[in-house]
Amino acid sequence: MDLCLVTTSWESSHERLLLTISTICDVTRFMYRKRFIALSLMQAALPAWAQSEFAEERDFMVEQVIQLAELTGAETGRPQFADRVIDALRTVPRHEFVPEALRGAAAYRNSPLPIGRGQTISQPYIVALMTDLAEVGSESVVLEIGTGSGYQAAVLAEFVDHVYTIEIMEPLGRRASETLERQGYANVSVRIGDGYQGWPEFAPFDAILVTAAPEEVPQPLIEQLKPGGRLVIPVGPENQVQSLQVLRKTGSGETQITAVLPVRFVPFLNEDDVTP
Ligand SMILES: C[S@@+](CC[C@H](N)C(=O)[O-])C[C@H]1O[C@@H](n2cnc3c(N)ncnc32)[C@H](O)[C@@H]1O
Repeated sequence: MDLCLVTTSWESSHERLLLTISTICDVTRFMYRKRFIALSLMQAALPAWAQSEFAEERDFMVEQVIQLAELTGAETGRPQFADRVIDALRTVPRHEFVPEALRGAAAYRNSPLPIGRGQTISQPYIVALMTDLAEVGSESVVLEIGTGSGYQAAVLAEFVDHVYTIEIMEPLGRRASETLERQGYANVSVRIGDGYQGWPEFAPFDAILVTAAPEEVPQPLIEQLKPGGRLVIPVGPENQVQSLQVLRKTGSGETQITAVLPVRFVPFLNEDDVTP
């Protein structure tokens, strides 16, 4: 199943959007090629240890994310993502978080990719948007529900204090935990289980990101937000267009909800949905 794909509510604007994205991709590719030659020359001058694998592909992916942010900015209110978010995207080796068969340039497509068990690693643009919407920084403690590949957790871990992440599918959670450890992310804790109840032992959190769509916002997650904290979550029916929302908890404990973008995520599961 495909998820985390940006959608628009109207067919015609959807087509226009796709056409514009494709034009932008062509222009970006042309400009990028020129820059690519300069970058390659600069890279060649670096010692082997300093040359990061797939750096050009990652840069190209980041360019596409930046362009898409500008294109959707009027709707999302985020035409430009924070530098720390872009830097994190430029740093995390996405190819390390996908199955071996995709561990090449394909890992840097701005699209979701399968990671097994019917689940996917989210589209880089959506990862960046959700990270930006969380408005977190170096002091922040963040909870993520839906570890999947571990990529979103790694992006956050690049600049926050600590990430707690919960995955309901044991094989995925174990693999993500191994990947994060291998990549040196000591500030990420992975737990296998149903994220509906959050992780009360480490609450309250500065932000909570949910990367699977429940039909309604789980109440325990609102309770585990700090005053001023933000819950970024897709909400809506299974296999249909959902709404990416930001719930901000005020100082008095009330919640203010902002709908950001129509999206399509995999469903939020419970223990009964999961086969061992
Ligand atoms: C879109 S994928 C996650 C993408 C992930 N953030 C990444 O960067 O690869 C959604 C994940 O949420 C998990 N999930 C669904 N319902 C869950 C729940 N109740 N608790 C924890 N994880 C859940 C799925 O198993 C799946 O791995």
